Formats: sequence, C-alpha cells, structure tokens
Amino acid sequence: KILILDFGSQTTQLIGRRIRELGVYAEIIPGDAAVTDETLADVKGIILSGSPESVYSPDGEVPDQRIYSLGLPLLGICYGIQRMTVDNGGTVEALPEREYGSLEVNLTVPDDPGKLAGGDAAAAFFSGFDGTVPLDAIRGSTAAKSKPGASFSINSWMSHGDTITKLGRGFRQFGTSLHGAPAVLVHEERPWFGVQFHPEVTHNERGTEIIAGFVFGVCGCKPGWSMEQYIEEVRASLGQRVGANPVLLLISGGVDSTVAGALLLKTLNPDQVHLMYMDTGLMRKNETETVRVNLERLGAKHLHIIHCENEFLSALKGLTDPEAKRKAIGDLFITIQEREVTRLGLPDSYFLAQGTLYTDLIESGKGIGKKAHLIKSHHNVGSPLVDAKRKAGRIIEPLDRLYKDEVRSLGRILGIDEDVVRRHPFPGPGLGVRILGEVTKEKCDILRDADAIYIEELKKRGLYDEIWQAFAVLLPIRSVGVAGDVRKYSWVLALRAITSDDGMTADVYPFSMKDLLEISTLITNTVTDIGRVTYDISSKPPATIEWE
Ligand code: XMP
Repeated sequence: KILILDFGSQTTQLIGRRIRELGVYAEIIPGDAAVTDETLADVKGIILSGSPESVYSPDGEVPDQRIYSLGLPLLGICYGIQRMTVDNGGTVEALPEREYGSLEVNLTVPDDPGKLAGGDAAAAFFSGFDGTVPLDAIRGSTAAKSKPGASFSINSWMSHGDTITKLGRGFRQFGTSLHGAPAVLVHEERPWFGVQFHPEVTHNERGTEIIAGFVFGVCGCKPGWSMEQYIEEVRASLGQRVGANPVLLLISGGVDSTVAGALLLKTLNPDQVHLMYMDTGLMRKNETETVRVNLERLGAKHLHIIHCENEFLSALKGLTDPEAKRKAIGDLFITIQEREVTRLGLPDSYFLAQGTLYTDLIESGKGIGKKAHLIKSHHNVGSPLVDAKRKAGRIIEPLDRLYKDEVRSLGRILGIDEDVVRRHPFPGPGLGVRILGEVTKEKCDILRDADAIYIEELKKRGLYDEIWQAFAVLLPIRSVGVAGDVRKYSWVLALRAITSDDGMTADVYPFSMKDLLEISTLITNTVTDIGRVTYDISSKPPATIEWE
C-alpha cells in the first residue's frame, strides 16, 4: 500500500482516491504523525501532500524525520516537496504572486536517467509525463520507461504561494514552470521525487499517469485492491471482533447505512444482525418501502421498522423557527431511538454499527487528516446511545476505509438496487428542512409528490447522475393562480439542482429552459395544490444547498 502524509490540503483526499482507482490501497495519516513500524506494515511508498500552510510558518507541520532514513520511495506534492527540500537543507521562499490554475510545465528527461534515484526508478517516474505511454503500460508488470533525452510539456494544475529557491541536498531539477519555478525534482541517489503541481486534480494533464508512474514504476505496487477483497477483509475482522454477539445498525434510508446493512448481512450471520429504521413521516416518497424491500431481499431477518410519523408531526406542530424544528426533530429522534432499542432487549454485549465513511472520519478529525475538518460543520446530533457504546468500545464502522464512490460500487456488488445506490444525499431531518414554516402532514404529502415527479423526470431525461443533489422545497407562501375560471391560492414550490464535489461548495445546474418548463408543467398539472414553480439559481456560497 501507499501511505499519504496529510498536511491539510483540500486535495489530499483526491490523492488517495486516484491511487485506489488504480487498484492500490492508500491510507492517509496526519502529516506530523509518528511513523511507526506498525504504520509502515506493507507500505511500499510515501506521498507527502500539499498544505494551506507555508513550510516556514510555525503552523506548517513537520513529518517524522524517520521517513528520510527508511529507504522507501517518497513523492512530495506542492508543500510536500517544499517540505522535503527544507528538511534536506534547501530553501523555500514566498513568491511575489501566487501561481494558481493551469500552467505549462516543460521537462526534459536526462540522457542518463539510470544514474538517478537508484536506477530504473527515475525512468519509470518520467514515463508518467510521456504522452505516448498509455496508462495500462504504466500499470503493467514491466514498468514503462521514458526515453533518455525526451522532452515533454504538460498542462499542470498549480496552487502555491511559495517556491523552492535552493534545492535540497542531492536533488536535481527537471521540470520548470512557465514562470521559471522548479516544478519537477528528482534525487540523485534515492528514489525521492517531487512535483510542485497537483497531479491528483483532474485538470492536471497526465496527472493519473504521473501518480501511477510513482505507485507502480517506482514503488513496485501491483493492482489488487478491490471491493471483493474489502468484503473478505471485513468478514475476517468483524468475525474476530464481534463473535456471536448481536449487532444493531440504525438505517436512515441513505446510501451509506443501506450499504452498511447489506455488508453486515453478507459478512455476519443474518441472525445476529438487527436493522432499525425510523419512518419519521419526513422521508421521501416510497423511501420506507424501498429500504424494506432491498434489505429483506438481501436476507435481513430482524428488520425493525418503527412507524413514528404521528409523534414527529405532533412534536413539530406550531413550530416555524428552523432551529426549533431541527431541535424538535433531533430530540425526538434520540428519545424514540433509545426507547425502541431498549424495547428490543438486546444483551449489553451488543455492538452498534454505523455507516461512517473514510471522509467522515477525516472531516471530524478522528485521527486521520486534521485540518480539512475545520471546513465542514456537522449537522447531525450526537446521541447518548452512540456515546455510551463508543465508551464501551462497542462501535463498528465497516465502511470506514471507503470513499463515497467505493461505497456505491460495494452496494452494487452486494446487490442493492441501482436506485438506492445512486441516490442523491438527503439531510437527516428530512423534509423537515425542506418545508419552510410549519410542517404538517398535508404539506409533507404535497412535497413528497412534487419531489418524486421532479426526480423521476431527471432520471427519465438522463440528468439525474449529472446532478449532485436535486430536490424540491415547499415555500411557506401561497400565491394566486387560476383553476378553470376561478382564482385560487395555492402553494409555491422551489426546485433546486446543484453540482458539487463534496457539498461544501455548489454550482447551480444549468438546465435547458425546455426541461424546466416541462417539469414545472408536469408538477402543477399533477399536484394541484401547487400553483407556481420557481427554480433556485443561487450557488453556494453565498446560499446553502438546503433552504432550511
Ligand atoms: P447545506 O444546506 O449546509 O448542505 O449547504 C450541505 C449538504 O449537507 C446536507 N445536509 C444535511 N445532512 N443532516 C445531514 O445528514 C443534516 O441535518 C443536514 N443538513 C444539510 C445537505 O442535504 C447537503 O447535501
């Protein structure tokens, strides 16, 4: 596997993803974490990530200096190579102006690449830049090599405010950016490499190939990481940890918890797996039924569906303030959860499973990356049940090494319906945050119907997968319209559709006017309580994705 030291760049995650997409397992640890023998088990190479900090700032993290004496291949990206430079006697200084965006990098392979970086490594690394070498050749069993003396030019993706002004001991500069900054560095004796740009970003030409050149050609990794292997690893580790004890998983209806449920059913004895799902009445149309059908088909024997719509509607009665609504929903969720779990009467020894993903761990700062988490605010309420189980060391998180796209492929392998696997994210408080003002059963039904039509149309038109999240919002106003010959006041609906990478920022999806007009007509013709449809054209920031 490849170890990634995370110095806080927002693209560190992407490095891990690219490597896993190449079929090699990659693991991210904090940039300044101690690199122990345990951390190093099976590690074939180390990547030092970028960072929002400068190497000379007191906040710039320093890696365990042991990495320089392990004899393992190293690749520094942006801050990573600047760090390697400074740690080896070089100098980094601020640029008068940040280099940002697409910049050309020119590189000439030396006539004697074999004399660098311990032999074949340099030639294998340079092959990543060579437009004539296909990715498959780089991944192949005999590593591709660049031709001595060849010259390449690629469009790289840069984002840095500092530059290397004196190379570290033993480093030689190859690539140069258009502005004359060192862009590609190779050590003369050791398998150490550095790039000033971000090969993990898709805009970086030959980025995947450059990473592959390091992972396969330099580190000698072999493709082998797959979801099937993951399932077997989970089976082994869960079996050992859980034994014959019962396991309880709370299912929300979203992709993550459904896949976690399917994975438990596949890797444990279905008799020991308890799945609990709360129908709060704030779910999307047919959500409860879809979840039930999927999980039963996958062998669920103890699926506890709690119908608590009335309790939620009563708790929300008269509430219009968004925070008050959120609190009412969150509190009641916890109360019912505690009550129903007690009612199940599981022995104290039971384990609580959660659909936590790799990114969730990184964002909440639980021992993996550190800085990226400051960006995301957490919406979901902590629960005493989860806290107590965590204290007792009885939480299992079988998806905690996976990225979202990997969870989706795992779901497919486990046989979950495509409809569930591809589903857009849905907030914990559900329609409670998509009905502005007071929530009533009538409004929930109207919104559910309208939302279902909208989503169905997006799927029919082949647009659903291009959009990161789409949904309808019911506004707390009625507006005038005509029905037959009479004036009628009916509800106003807003449609939202955005593209995004992770929900932190979002762009409006640019529908064609034809799609919007047809969808609007279909909604107002079918859901007669809606008289007017609007499309939200705000990006995030300044707006958020949900209206709340
Ligand atoms: P905002 O509205 O903050 O949403 O731009 C960003 C993403 O988070 C989802 N969201 C939630 N998810 N519980 C959740 O699990 C919540 O309370 C919650 N509120 C918003 C939202 O749907 C979007 O994908």
